[in-house]
Amino acid sequence: MQDPAKRVKVLHMENITKRFPGVTALNQVNFDVMEGEVVALIGENGAGKSTLMKVLGGVHHPDEGTITASGSPAVIRSVADADSLGVGFVHQELNVLDNLDVGANVFLGREPHRFGLINRRKIKADTQPFLDTLGLDVSPDTPLSKLSIGQQQMVEIAKALSKEAKIIIMDEPTSSLTLSETERLLKVIGDLSEQGIAVIYISHRLGEVTQCAHRVVALRDGKNAGELKSGEINHDAMVSLMVGRDLKRTPLTSSDHETVPRRLVVSNLRTALYPECQSSFEISGGEILGMAGLVGAGRSELAQATFGVDPALSGSVSVDGITIKRGAARQSIKAGIYLAPEDRKLTGLVLEFDITQNVSLADLWNHSSRIGLIDRYAERKVAEQQIERLKIKTPSASTAAITLSGGNQQKVVLGKWLSMKPKVIIFDEPTRGIDVGAKAEIYKLMRELARNGVAIWMISSDMEEVLGISDRIVVMHEGQITGELQRDEFGEEPIMHLAVGNSKTEAN
Ligand SMILES: Nc1ncnc2c1ncn2[C@@H]1O[C@H](COP(=O)(O)OP(=O)(O)OP(=O)(O)O)[C@@H](O)[C@H]1O
Ligand SMILES: [Mg+2]
Repeated sequence: MQDPAKRVKVLHMENITKRFPGVTALNQVNFDVMEGEVVALIGENGAGKSTLMKVLGGVHHPDEGTITASGSPAVIRSVADADSLGVGFVHQELNVLDNLDVGANVFLGREPHRFGLINRRKIKADTQPFLDTLGLDVSPDTPLSKLSIGQQQMVEIAKALSKEAKIIIMDEPTSSLTLSETERLLKVIGDLSEQGIAVIYISHRLGEVTQCAHRVVALRDGKNAGELKSGEINHDAMVSLMVGRDLKRTPLTSSDHETVPRRLVVSNLRTALYPECQSSFEISGGEILGMAGLVGAGRSELAQATFGVDPALSGSVSVDGITIKRGAARQSIKAGIYLAPEDRKLTGLVLEFDITQNVSLADLWNHSSRIGLIDRYAERKVAEQQIERLKIKTPSASTAAITLSGGNQQKVVLGKWLSMKPKVIIFDEPTRGIDVGAKAEIYKLMRELARNGVAIWMISSDMEEVLGISDRIVVMHEGQITGELQRDEFGEEPIMHLAVGNSKTEAN
């Protein structure tokens, strides 16, 4: 990056206010970005980060406020307006079309023509240099569906570069990336900055923010909550800006309490993704089993087969000694196994429903009165308890899930399962997109559930989380359980060692 004193301001947002029905998402927010600067935008779930960036990206129109881009007043009425001002957006939910190839995505809507036809050869030639810059080792005619999420994200960045973006917004870019893809992305951010391109980086992973940001801007309840300059950026300083107080770090290790042995027993289970592999393991009631592994290791598939949404090819699952019929999720729920899935949009949440309906969805028979009517009052009470307990930021329990911020949607999914009386809960990436305060809250709840005898199976790609709250860790690699670690063996290195397919003995 060049001498900071000589850099120019590429963006100035002043007194931006944005209201939605019942919520002031942004209240007189100011936000500046310098050329080549990496600015992290942090804040709790629902603080207004995505909304501020959608205003800049032309998705939302502010009710008040002004925007100045490279010194001139800017009116951003549409995504096209943002494009022409040099604002590129890598969204929280990816925006690429996976039935097209890489080049077609990069030049979507701006395809070069020759003799009235799309000039594919030119697209290919023009795309290649951007892929080289980003170190993305795929051909421009690879279909997007063949790429990992990390690679698809690089395609979105290539698209922004091809439009000569001066500012690239990344909204939680690493939440679905593997460790090495995350490293790669952070490196790319550094390179972009060197070239004078500014990056606005939104993340709940404060370690990454510390690694890449030149400056941190915090929002709290839709307002500016302070800034940190490069020498001041550290975990505790960020947390106190976001939550407005210091968070106590509670020790989360298990305490001595009664356990129920063999509460969940999975034997020789085979999934369609890795039909040649069989998995067997047990979890006691009272225990939190962490399951680590690289993205694609088959952990979610194993969880889905255990729960029964995906039929297992063979093998068996039992709860408290009672075998559950394969492929029968309904029976699993009756037996007390619940799955809080990874992709909340697909299986966790009905976006059009309000919070009350979502929380009570899987538990309708508990809220039904004897004559079969749903007890709306009881249903709402339960939803309100969960809103309180998980600090879900919403105007009311009858707000539609679709209008909630990403992290708050995740909390609704958790609320749904916590409102029931589980014996076994499978959490698949439970805190993806969740802010620090709520994370701590969720860990406390998990521990509380365990203390009440629940067997907890937690799949997570967040290393800190796996190490911090598991009682025991199982690691998977390409469909196979490669090893198990007891507390005294915990460490980042042994996990990575097993996650890339080595066995435990090879370590010594
Ligand atoms: N389209 C919408 N309609 C109504 N309310 C909305 C809409 N989009 C956002 N909101 C509300 O605006 C507030 C800010 O949401 P925003 O998505 O900006 O939060 P965020 O800081 O990005 O949170 P997260 O970390 O969870 O992604 C929230 O209260 C949210 O419910
Ligand atoms: Mg957001």
